[in-house]
Amino acid sequence: MAKKRFYITTPIYYPSGNAHIGHAYCTTLCDVFARYKRMRHYECYFLTGTDEHGLKIEKKAKAEGVEPKEYVDTMVAKFRELWKAMEISNDDFIRTTDERHIECVQNVFTHMLNNDDIYLSKYEGWYCFQEESFWTDTQVGEDHLCPECHRPVQKATEEAYFFKTQKYLSGLMKYYETPNLIYPENRKTEMINTFIKPGLSDLCVSRTSFSWGVPIRENDKHVAYVWLDALFNYLSALGFGTSHDELYKKYWADEDSEIIHVIGNDITRFHTIYWPEFLMSLGVRLPDRVFVHGLIMMKDGKMSKSRGNVVSPFPLIERYGVDALRYYLVRDIIFGQDGTFTPEQYIDRINADLVNNLGNLLSRSVAMIVKYFDGVVPEFKSLCDKDRFLDSKVTLTIQNYENYLDDLHISEAFSEVMSLLNDTNKYIDDMAPWTLAKDDKNKVQLEAVMSHLAYVLFVGGKLLEPVLVNKSKEIFKQLGLSEKECDYDNILNNKILDNKKVFKGENLFPRLNVEEEVKYVASLMAQPK
Ligand code: MSP
Repeated sequence: MAKKRFYITTPIYYPSGNAHIGHAYCTTLCDVFARYKRMRHYECYFLTGTDEHGLKIEKKAKAEGVEPKEYVDTMVAKFRELWKAMEISNDDFIRTTDERHIECVQNVFTHMLNNDDIYLSKYEGWYCFQEESFWTDTQVGEDHLCPECHRPVQKATEEAYFFKTQKYLSGLMKYYETPNLIYPENRKTEMINTFIKPGLSDLCVSRTSFSWGVPIRENDKHVAYVWLDALFNYLSALGFGTSHDELYKKYWADEDSEIIHVIGNDITRFHTIYWPEFLMSLGVRLPDRVFVHGLIMMKDGKMSKSRGNVVSPFPLIERYGVDALRYYLVRDIIFGQDGTFTPEQYIDRINADLVNNLGNLLSRSVAMIVKYFDGVVPEFKSLCDKDRFLDSKVTLTIQNYENYLDDLHISEAFSEVMSLLNDTNKYIDDMAPWTLAKDDKNKVQLEAVMSHLAYVLFVGGKLLEPVLVNKSKEIFKQLGLSEKECDYDNILNNKILDNKKVFKGENLFPRLNVEEEVKYVASLMAQPK
C-alpha cells in the first residue's frame, strides 16, 4: 500500500569548495520528487544540508587564516544561495555545526557506548585525507592509492572508538531482503561482495588527531568521526531524542511515512551498511529506500572540486534560466547511471525538448486558437481516430509518469512527457488545421483539434511543473487557467479548458544558437568559478 507521507533527503554536502552541477543534480532530483509528491497532495518533508566537520575543512580554514566555523559559514552561505537560485523547495537545512545536531550526535554516542556497541581501541590503517576514509591493504593495493580519489594514502595509528559492525550483520542481511530497498539493485550486490563477504571490519567512529568535530562527552580527546557525525543529520533535523520531536514522530517513527535517501554512488557503503546498523543499535526503524544515482562526469573523468574541472550552475542559470538547468539535469542523466556533461548535449537538450517541442507546441497552438476561434478554446470533443489516439496517449503518459516518478525514474518520466508533446506536434501536422479551416464543413473537427491542443498543453504543463517551476506557470497563464483550476486532481478532466480565453505570450524558451552557446558553455568549463 502506498504510504501517506514522505521524508526525502539529499546527502549533506561538504562545503569545502563551491557547489557544482553534481551537487545541483542530486538536490534537483530530490526537489522534483518532493514537488511531485506535494503536487499530488502528499505530505512531504524534504531535507538537505551541509557536512561541516573533519580534517579537510580544518585544513582549508587554516590555509585561509580563519577559524573553521567562519570558513564554513561563508561556504554554506553559497550553498544556500545556490539552492535559492535553483528554486529548491527544501523544508529544512541542517548543518552539522548546528547545536541541535551536535547534541544529537553526542546522545547517540552515549547510547552506543552504554549499549556496548562502541569500544576504545587503536586504529591502524591506510588513511586518505582527501576522502577522510580509512582503507584496508586490499583496497589501497600495492601502490597505496586511495580507491576513491587515487591519491597516495598514509599509514595512520591512533586511539579511536570503534563500532561493532558484526553485532548487527544478521539484522543487516535481513534488512537487505526488503523489496526495492536499494536502487539500482546491483548496488546491494556490490556492497555484499565488496564489503560484507570479505569480512566487514568494525568502523572507526572517533578521531583524536584533529579537533574540528563533535566533541565526545565521555572522552574529551575525541571528536566523532565524520560518518557517524554526518549520517545522523537525517535524524537530528527531525528533533530525534529531544522534547521537540514532532517531526521525528511524523516523518520517521510513523510507519505511514516513507523514508527515502537519495545519494550518489560514491557514498553507498555508508548509507547501506553503517547507517542501518547505527539505526539498529538505537532500535529505531530503518529507511524504506535508498536511491543511488550516478555521477556527472566530465570528458576528463569525475567532476570534483579538488580536480578543479567543475561547472558552476550560476552562469548557466543566468544565461539559460533555472528551468532549463533543472530540466537538463533530470532529463539528460539516466537515474542510476553516470552521465557526461558536455556543452553540446546541454544546448541540444534545451533546443530539442524545450524550444522545438514544448515551446513550439505552445506558441503554434495558442496562435491557432487565436486565429481560428478568437482565442476561445472550443469545447473538448474527440471525433476521429487521431483524436482518440491522442486521448489514449494522454492517459497512458499520465499513468507512466506517475509510476516512473514514484520510483524516482525521473529521466524516464520526463521522457514520457516529451513523447506526448512530440506526438501532439505530429498530430497538428497530420490534422493540418490550416486546411480544415478552409472549409466550413470541417469546423467541428477543427474545434476538436484545438480543444485537444489546449488540453495536452495543460497536461504537459502540469506534468512538467515539478521541474519547470516558472515556465509551467507561464503555460497556464497563456491558457487562461486559474491557479485553482491547475490542481493536479484536474489532470484527467479534458473539459477544463472549455471556453477558456487564451492569449499569445512570449516564446517560452528562446531558440539557442548552437555554435555560439556551445562555445559559451565550453568557456565555463575551461575556467571553473
Ligand atoms: N558529506 C558527504 C555525504 C554525507 S551524507 C550523510 C559527501 N559529500 S560530497 O559533497 O562530497 O558529496 C555528496 C553528494 O553530492 C554525492 O553523494 C552526490 O550525490 C553529489 N555529488 C558530488 N559530486 C557529484 C558529481 N560529480 N555528480 C553527481 N553527483 C555528485 O560525500
